[in-house]
Amino acid sequence: MKFYMPVTVYEENNCVWNHRKELAALGRKALILTGKSSAKACGALGDVEKALREEGVDWLLFEDVEENPSVETVMAARRLGLSAGVDFVIGIGGGSPLDAAKAVAVMLCYKDKGADFLYEEPEQTGSLPVAAIPSTCGTGSEVTAVSVLTRHEKRTKASIAHRVFPKLALIDVRYLLSAPHSLICNTAVDALGHLVESYLNTNATDYSRMLVREGLVIWSLSKDVLLGRRKMEEADLHHLMMASTLGGMAIAHTGTAIPHALSYALTYELGIPHGKAVGYFLPGYIKGAKKEEKNALLALMGFSGTEELAAFYLKVCGKTEIDAGVLDRAVEETAKNIGKLALCPYPLDEACLRGMGMIKSI
Ligand SMILES: [Fe+2]
Repeated sequence: MKFYMPVTVYEENNCVWNHRKELAALGRKALILTGKSSAKACGALGDVEKALREEGVDWLLFEDVEENPSVETVMAARRLGLSAGVDFVIGIGGGSPLDAAKAVAVMLCYKDKGADFLYEEPEQTGSLPVAAIPSTCGTGSEVTAVSVLTRHEKRTKASIAHRVFPKLALIDVRYLLSAPHSLICNTAVDALGHLVESYLNTNATDYSRMLVREGLVIWSLSKDVLLGRRKMEEADLHHLMMASTLGGMAIAHTGTAIPHALSYALTYELGIPHGKAVGYFLPGYIKGAKKEEKNALLALMGFSGTEELAAFYLKVCGKTEIDAGVLDRAVEETAKNIGKLALCPYPLDEACLRGMGMIKSI
């Protein structure tokens, strides 16, 4: 049994400022990756710029990371980074800038390689150092080595072949305060997906399940906020962020499983947010598990059964139309992904995969 978590994680208010020296120790010139607006709006970008200025570290800003970032975006950020001679990368935001930061850090290390290198099985992976500063409570990317990118030529999303753990994760839950309720809901369901898929996973160990158990209990404490039954309090910010980070640590050991694999076509073809697309398959995934495992999981998250989980999902993520053809594509692609199928602890065929969709109840 192996437990490996090489990321230095700090979670506290004023985290970036408090740990500015460790951030500055990663290099002399940073490439900062963000999306269009949230890194600025939540205050994280301003905090990072202030910290770098204080420490005399130069930086360059690439703020064009789109949701579900593409290989093309990664290559554009690399061109900018190479032209400026950066020696480390900072990702600020949700999963998209964080995942992009890891891929850009690889490509900056292998300056002569083309985009195909991202998906070539590496003999060894090198990368520039990465710092990750999350502004949502779902990705867990700040503590995983995974980078999921959109591959337009394959019309889907896929993890790059390289594994890049950030050196430093700086978590300040106040960055969640400016996020819209729908974003909090979708990302919290993504975190739930990470926890569930890590628990029901052939790679699960006592260590990874320890993370999941704690994560689900903490996640469940703020369910009523997601349901709109009470207002968000400061403790909820910590619960949701910690559940996300623990989920990330859990999937760093096991990988994600079937709901994530099925979700990618829904996001690519229909533009459904990642967490919402994952959550669509979660009740069905749990339903297939052994009775003891299913009951243990549902008890940890505070649901009486998969029906209550499905009702919760519909309330917090909303109904949506899933085109039957897109679901067929999701099932076909997942059925071909032998590596993913092997992570499911019970036997699967195309009919089981199709049955995981909540299509009848939406
Ligand atoms: Fe996810």
